[in-house]
Amino acid sequence: MTEPNGASITFENVGKAYSKSGGTTVTALEGVSLAMAPGSITGIIGRSGAGKSTLLRMVNGIERPTAGSVLVGGQNVGAAKGSKLRAIRRDVGMIFQHFNLLASRSVAGNIALPLEIAGVPSSQIKPRVADLIER
Ligand SMILES: Nc1ncnc2c1ncn2[C@@H]1O[C@H](COP(=O)(O)OP(=O)(O)O)[C@@H](O)[C@H]1O
Ligand SMILES: [Mg+2]
Repeated sequence: MTEPNGASITFENVGKAYSKSGGTTVTALEGVSLAMAPGSITGIIGRSGAGKSTLLRMVNGIERPTAGSVLVGGQNVGAAKGSKLRAIRRDVGMIFQHFNLLASRSVAGNIALPLEIAGVPSSQIKPRVADLIER
């Protein structure tokens, strides 16, 4: 699904201020506007502390903007909560720096885990896992 501007990910004047203990705030992002076209590949570069991780975490709602809006596939991620936010997160793949894989599970088992949690029947999980490993 795309936004009215034809993009699949849109940031509109997004700001993020982190509140710290003692009442101080850190402005991680201010006035960020961008639009990513469906199927395009975008790289985000910047020095350490520039706000790359903060920006990325807003795409699947791990962080919420404190100003502006984040639209992904036509949905306002920054405003989504509960089951709606979980549904959006299931559609946004994210590979973390440290992978967060379970050592107690095989590769196939790690791939299957989110499908198991989502309640997908094992008859559907098996071909899906095989297809993804093949890729
Ligand atoms: N949870 C947090 N609480 C307070 N400040 C944070 C938090 N996460 C990031 N920051 C601050 O926000 C700024 C941007 O951080 P970050 O998005 O991690 O940048 P990058 O990934 O580009 O290195 C930095 O000044 C960082 O210290
Ligand atoms: Mg980072």
